[in-house]
Amino acid sequence: MPPANIGIIGHPLGHTLSPVFQNVALRHHGIDADFTAWPVAPADLAAKVESFRAPDFIASCVTLPHKQAVIPMIDELADSAKAVGAVNWIINDGGKLIGHNTDAPGFYRALTELGGFHVAGCNAVVLGAGGAARAIVYALVNAGVRKLTIANRTLERAEALASEFAATTDSEVTAAEMTTDALSPVAPSLNLWVNTTSVGMAGGPAPDQSPIDSSLIRSGQTGYDAVYAPPETPFLRAIKDAGGTGLGGLTMLVLQGAVGFELATGKPAPVAEMFVAVDKAIGK
Ligand code: ATR
Repeated sequence: MPPANIGIIGHPLGHTLSPVFQNVALRHHGIDADFTAWPVAPADLAAKVESFRAPDFIASCVTLPHKQAVIPMIDELADSAKAVGAVNWIINDGGKLIGHNTDAPGFYRALTELGGFHVAGCNAVVLGAGGAARAIVYALVNAGVRKLTIANRTLERAEALASEFAATTDSEVTAAEMTTDALSPVAPSLNLWVNTTSVGMAGGPAPDQSPIDSSLIRSGQTGYDAVYAPPETPFLRAIKDAGGTGLGGLTMLVLQGAVGFELATGKPAPVAEMFVAVDKAIGK
């Protein structure tokens, strides 16, 4: 059995798909390592992170609820992690632990490489204002979005996120309530909708609903759903029914992992093989 010197920490971890596609990438390059799922309770987090300094340890992916809690436990933050305010990969660089955020580049690669979408100069709406929204807003602003509206059920959270990013970019970043009335004026000129809320998620607060009324969607618009279970959410179905292009959150899950794998190993991630493994695991 290869050593468990790379993996993922979270609590609870449930049925994480990360080992499925990360082990395919490790085998592809003949790397002697077994990507392992470590459920780590908050009380055990500091000791677990400390163990990552071991000489043969490669890296760990970090998921909920630890993405911010690990920050004071590590030595350095890459720019991506500073900007997003969360770490989803810790890389062991000779005993020094460096925190990265690959959610933003993972989303960007999914949207552009798999979705064929061109961000520079586009108009977009991001639905939601939590941690996933923050990474996606950062990615869009970095890629030169022209007009970005952050729409959230709780307007104050959208306003806080919008004013934070508006101060550091040429993009026009504003906030709105996530209602049909508030979104009607911006909807017709949109190129991209991104859902980061948990609406439509299996086991979430509203599994059968879309976060927006389908009357807002126009043909030719792209819809990205950060939700990956189910692979086709009510939001993505509405986008497709309106004649738009839909892309699901499995793409971000795999590509944040691909970017992390590349940082951790210095080798190109075999993205197509990783998707084949995920599709097989979810029975697609
Ligand atoms: P994450 O880090 O995954 O983004 P989060 O910080 O809990 O998770 O954010 C969840 C997002 O989904 C928030 O934008 C939340 O809206 P509020 O800020 O108003 O809470 C949104 N959300 C969750 N349940 C929702 C629902 N039933 N209807 C609309 N928005 C919802």
